[in-house]
Amino acid sequence: MRRPFVAGNWKMNNTLTEARALMRELREQLSPQAAVDVAVCTPHTLLYPMGREIDGTAIALGAQNCHFEPSGAFTGEVSPRMIKEAGCTYVIVGHSERRQHFAEGGEILKRKVEAALQAGLDVIYCIGETLEQRQQGETEAVLDRQMAEVLHGGLDAGRLTVAYEPVWAIGTGVTATAEQAQASHEFVRSKLASIFGASGAAKMRIQYGGSVKPGNAAELMACPDVDGALVGGASLVAGDFVAIIAAAAAASR
Ligand code: PGA
Repeated sequence: MRRPFVAGNWKMNNTLTEARALMRELREQLSPQAAVDVAVCTPHTLLYPMGREIDGTAIALGAQNCHFEPSGAFTGEVSPRMIKEAGCTYVIVGHSERRQHFAEGGEILKRKVEAALQAGLDVIYCIGETLEQRQQGETEAVLDRQMAEVLHGGLDAGRLTVAYEPVWAIGTGVTATAEQAQASHEFVRSKLASIFGASGAAKMRIQYGGSVKPGNAAELMACPDVDGALVGGASLVAGDFVAIIAAAAAASR
């Protein structure tokens, strides 16, 4: 049985003042016994202060990106070990917005995943097809390629989560149906089995992401291969994020 994992991806939202208020609400509303792993992935500037805010709670901290070198002349970048020391358990790698707006592709993302694991971070590796790719019938080929160019058997599968996020569902209000999500997750798990072996893949969590809201979370979380969610917009509203976590907990019972 896989323990569900729900992570909030704040993206480039929240000043320190706003973040403190949101975190206070989250702390108040979140049941500490929920049978779900919960993380919030904040902008780099908020990592250290949010790490202090979540101290003693069941909420873990994640970053949204990292560089692949431990240090050096990379102006504007932040290394995995800096993120780790700021209090992070997780880092998101390969989010479609990084692929799209910052031209991150397989070669760079492979180095990032390796460097993050090396620094002791757990990785949420994001994959997903665009609308055009889906319409062309390329969904599985795209997911296959995005996994093949970055993941390999030398990585610690136990510290890796894959987030399936169809690009057409991110921030659009359009969600994949439960059937579409399950079909892709099943495909992803079969590919993970070919990389990490069947028992390794059976233990790995595959999150769904893309317009997850309280209203659609229960249906998505009920899919047998959906093990939680990567939540953007709805993670900025404490009540919505908590409702999604509750839906994941209910589905795992
Ligand atoms: P969304 O974002 O929930 O706002 O669609 C999800 C994500 O990009 O991780």
